[in-house]
Amino acid sequence: MNYSGFTLWFTGLSGAGKTTISKGVALVLKARGYRVEILDGDVVRTHLCQELGFSKQDRDTNVRRIGFVANLLSRNQVIAIVAAISPYREIREEVRQMSQNFIEVYVKASLETCSQRDVKGLYALAKAGKIKDFTGIDSPYEEPLNPEIICHTQYESIESSITKVIQVLEEWGYIC
Ligand code: PPS
Ligand code: MG
Repeated sequence: MNYSGFTLWFTGLSGAGKTTISKGVALVLKARGYRVEILDGDVVRTHLCQELGFSKQDRDTNVRRIGFVANLLSRNQVIAIVAAISPYREIREEVRQMSQNFIEVYVKASLETCSQRDVKGLYALAKAGKIKDFTGIDSPYEEPLNPEIICHTQYESIESSITKVIQVLEEWGYIC
């Protein structure tokens, strides 16, 4: 198949749906014969970024490393799908600049919704002061100003978010 690699970068609060949507998009792309790799913050942090915590400096390092690997993959005709909170606009812009084809997807859900979902119980721990530097609680999340795609997971189903992403990739000629 003749196609160029690209980076599909999902950013958003913990619990917004980044992992779920990224896995769904990856499945669709793989089924169509594309080579895909997912770089999920949670997973990357158990290997490539094991020593990093959640200070601004550590998050910046984490996001830069993920961006670097995504770029290596995408320039070798692999679609790099990133799912990382990546809370700082400036660093997201930095990784955008170092990538040739970069698509930012804002997985948007309010802090209230994410903390109500609290799938991993982390918001409760953060509110109780048992985890510090938690995004949205005592650590910032800077919303993208101009993302290519927004998935409003509060109002749309996971399936429709996945379909939306795939449709944009088709419309823009990244995939067919
Ligand atoms: S970042 O900001 O991009 O470096 O974060 P990321 O690598 O995506 O890691 C986020 C996941 O780590 C878990 N976790 C925390 N998230 C935010 N703040 C704090 N303090 C924290 N501690 C642990 C959490 O499971 C995040 O996963 P998601 O999938 O986003 O819920
Ligand atoms: Mg996740």
